[in-house]
Amino acid sequence: MELKEKISRNNFLRQLGFSGAALMAVYGLDSCLNESAVTPSGAGLSLDLANASYAKLKNSGSYVVVNKVVVANYNGNYIAATLKCSHEGQNQIQFNNNEWYCTAHGARFSTTGKGLNSNGSRGLTVYTTSLVGDILTVNA
Ligand code: FES
Repeated sequence: MELKEKISRNNFLRQLGFSGAALMAVYGLDSCLNESAVTPSGAGLSLDLANASYAKLKNSGSYVVVNKVVVANYNGNYIAATLKCSHEGQNQIQFNNNEWYCTAHGARFSTTGKGLNSNGSRGLTVYTTSLVGDILTVNA
């Protein structure tokens, strides 16, 4: 909030009868709201693998889709990629035969996102993951 805006708002609130502690309460609440607005978005995705929704992730070759991120178990390691294909932007990426695969037109990508055929030539965005206990964090 600009100083100029605070001053005019302050005068406005005083004209309404706000003063002292009431005025501080209004500004204090405003500060709290602004802090939540500046929290970075896309900071990551956390999955509790103990949750039944992700039980199949314990099996190598299985995957789940959460918030447009595909998370897969690749030989006991957790890998993740965007659901959105780089070919024509369809949200159809799957994990299939130990590679990322788009069901729209058959684009194929390695586990590191490298294109494996012409439709996959632009590569695929992949994310790093980390596991602490049952909590899998995807750095999306
Ligand atoms: S949009 Fe994925 S292969 Fe075409």
